[in-house]
This record gives sequence, C-alpha cells and structure tokens, in this order.
Amino acid sequence: MMDPRLKELISAEQIQRRCDELAVEIDRDYAGKSLVLLAVLKGSYMFLADLSKRLSSPVMIDFVQVSSYGDEKSSSGIVQIRKDHDVSIEGRHVLVVEDIVDTGLTLAHLCELLRTRRPLSLKVVSMLSKPAARRHEALVDYLGFEIPNEFVVGYGLDHAESFRNLPFIALLKD
Ligand code: IMP
Repeated sequence: MMDPRLKELISAEQIQRRCDELAVEIDRDYAGKSLVLLAVLKGSYMFLADLSKRLSSPVMIDFVQVSSYGDEKSSSGIVQIRKDHDVSIEGRHVLVVEDIVDTGLTLAHLCELLRTRRPLSLKVVSMLSKPAARRHEALVDYLGFEIPNEFVVGYGLDHAESFRNLPFIALLKD
C-alpha cells in the first residue's frame, strides 16, 4: 500500500513518455556529436538511467556531487563540490543531468565552475523545475516537467534518503 503521506503528481508512464521525447530532442541536437552526460548525484540517478539508454548518440557518463549552503538573505550561496568528475570535459560537449531545479543556486554555481573548464558546449537537462522558486538564473535547455513550488519525492528524489526508488513523482505531505 502507498505511504499515506504521498500523493502522486507525475505517473511512471508520464515520466517514461517524457524520457522518450527528451531523448529524441537531444539525439537530434547532438547528431553526429559525442557528449559527456554529467549527472548530479544522488537525485538524478534514475533519470540518467532512463534517459541514457534511449540515446543513440555516443555518450560518456560521469558524476558530480555538490552540496549547497544557501544564504537566504542574499543572492549568494556556497556550492561545494563533494565529488568531482573524472572524465576531462575540456573540448567536449557536456550535458548536465539534473533531477530538479528549485532556487537554481546549485545549477548556477555548478555551470559557472564547469565553464571554467572550457567544454565545447554546456547544456542542462532537468527532469523537474519549480519556476516559482527560482532566485538564481539557471538555464535549463531540456526540461521534463514544470511543477508547483512544493516538496516532491520519488524518481531519485529523496526526503532524508527515503523514497528515491519510487518509479513516480509524488508530493510529500507533512
Ligand atoms: P536549488 O539549488 O535550490 O535549485 O536546489 C536543488 C537541489 O535541492 C536539488 O538537486 C535537490 O537535491 C534539492 N531539492 C529541491 N527541491 C526538492 C524537492 O522538492 N524534493 C527533493 N529535493 C529537492
């Protein structure tokens, strides 16, 4: 039985269909090019798996893990790299794979850092975005779904490390 605190927002079928569409778009844009999929741990692991197996472009896969310490009073915040990528991104097409863009702090800082490493191109695919929560300019090139400014879990996203394995995305009521 489903946890009574959960309310399904996006079904597993909807997610899979959107992955099909995103993969077609990405394959078309990177036709004839190879790219590095740089997934942001941990939340994007399920999206990375679903998206990457649908791509026919040649890809390398690597991971970064970041932790953000947002400062609510100013627009600055510190994003610390906890695990850096191993594959060199210099001169390569890089597609950052994110689970969710909330305030945009994490993505804005991560992209700023990655640009200093001189990739040939840098784009972002995110499964989810909460546009109403945005405080930092963080551009998403490919987006799965826009969602309301509420806390969601599932499909890689957690609450205290739980719920990541749900194949759908749900609102978590407290
Ligand atoms: P941002 O830096 O505010 O954009 O936050 C991005 C990160 O916060 C994501 O990569 C998630 O790890 C986490 N996050 C933001 N909103 C949610 C949510 O609704 N559920 C689970 N994690 C979230």
